[in-house]
Amino acid sequence: MKRILVTGGAGFIGANFVRMVLDEHPETLVVNLDILTYAGNLENLKGYTDNPNHVFVKGDICDPDLVNELVDKYEIEAIVNFAAESHVDRSLVEPGVFIQTNVQGTLNLLKIALDKKLDRFLQVSTDEVYGSLGPEGYFTESTPLSPNSPYSASKASADMLVCAFGHSWGLPYNITRCSNNYGQYQFPEKMIPLMINNALNDKELPIYGDGLYVRDWLYVYDHCTAIWKVLTEAEPQTIYNVGGNNEKANLEVVRLILDRLGKPDSLIKHVKDRPGHDRRYAIDSSKIMGELGWKPTVTFEEGIVQTIDWYLDNTEWLNHVVSGQYQQYYEDMYAGR
Ligand code: NAD
Ligand code: DAU
Repeated sequence: MKRILVTGGAGFIGANFVRMVLDEHPETLVVNLDILTYAGNLENLKGYTDNPNHVFVKGDICDPDLVNELVDKYEIEAIVNFAAESHVDRSLVEPGVFIQTNVQGTLNLLKIALDKKLDRFLQVSTDEVYGSLGPEGYFTESTPLSPNSPYSASKASADMLVCAFGHSWGLPYNITRCSNNYGQYQFPEKMIPLMINNALNDKELPIYGDGLYVRDWLYVYDHCTAIWKVLTEAEPQTIYNVGGNNEKANLEVVRLILDRLGKPDSLIKHVKDRPGHDRRYAIDSSKIMGELGWKPTVTFEEGIVQTIDWYLDNTEWLNHVVSGQYQQYYEDMYAGR
């Protein structure tokens, strides 16, 4: 793939992906379409906005005219769709925008990908579409979809639309379903950066319920390499799970953060649980490992230390994100353009 449209490339994973592609695959043109919601931040792309292989466009994946124009103008070959509302807790408060962006937005991109006969449509999905596990077992690619939150229901709907476009009209697609990511540039509404930020400010760390909910954590760079492998090496009409084989209970992760920051466990506060909270996610990644030779390169022990240290070294980024000043950054950077 030489010319790709990446959507949501100013968000956490999208920005890490754009940075990786520009660094490691410099033959690629990346057109990056992002509407810059609260979660999208051009500071995540600092040092990359002037790269000649990177075109940033502020806009909406739901806008057919804009997406058509970009596909034509830049002779796009493939779309990698990261753009989404991504936070489960927000979806429990305001589900409508999740349907708009995650379902309608994906539908708009699919129609254009089909119409323009693009070589590939890669949907970045999530393990949450499979629902929740008990203490045993793993999600495989054939686990039935059983989403539990408005967020995961919107992602499952998008996945089904992608498959329907492949089945009905032969759109060449891939879907990746990844476990929980962590690493640099993650917005501090998600558990790991939220806990780091609170601990740095000696604020209580809010643990939902008993804190024994289990997630499989994957370092964001390893998710990005998995997506690139699928985009460039996978057969069309295939789905790949991506995980870190690294299950941890939330309390264990939070204690590790406190320990690294030299803060007391007494900061932990058990609070009211998330409604419908999925108990455990665990991913079987044997398909992508066996067929495409992908494997994670960063252990959790290394990755969590790198992540905490990154937030310690980037307090300016953190303070801007928390205070909303990144919007001012955007105004300054694009004033008069
Ligand atoms: P994020 O919330 O950090 O970033 C989402 C980005 O999408 C933001 O930059 C936002 O501005 C942009 N966006 C939102 N609505 C848009 C619209 N209408 N048009 C254009 N851009 C829009 O999310 P993330 O954590 O980076 O997740 C990226 C993708 O990966 C999502 O599709 C998510 O479902 C999926 N995913 C996330 C994780 C995780 O652990 N974070 C794990 C598996 C899959
Ligand atoms: O599994 C992949 C998914 O991981 C992605 O699809 C989502 O976009 C991403 O947000 C993430 O969803 P989670 O709900 O698992 O992530 P979150 O960081 O919100 O929460 C992780 C766990 O920590 C979960 O069990 C809820 C708990 N939690 C979270 C917050 C924000 C707390 O106990 N306290 C908190 O304040």
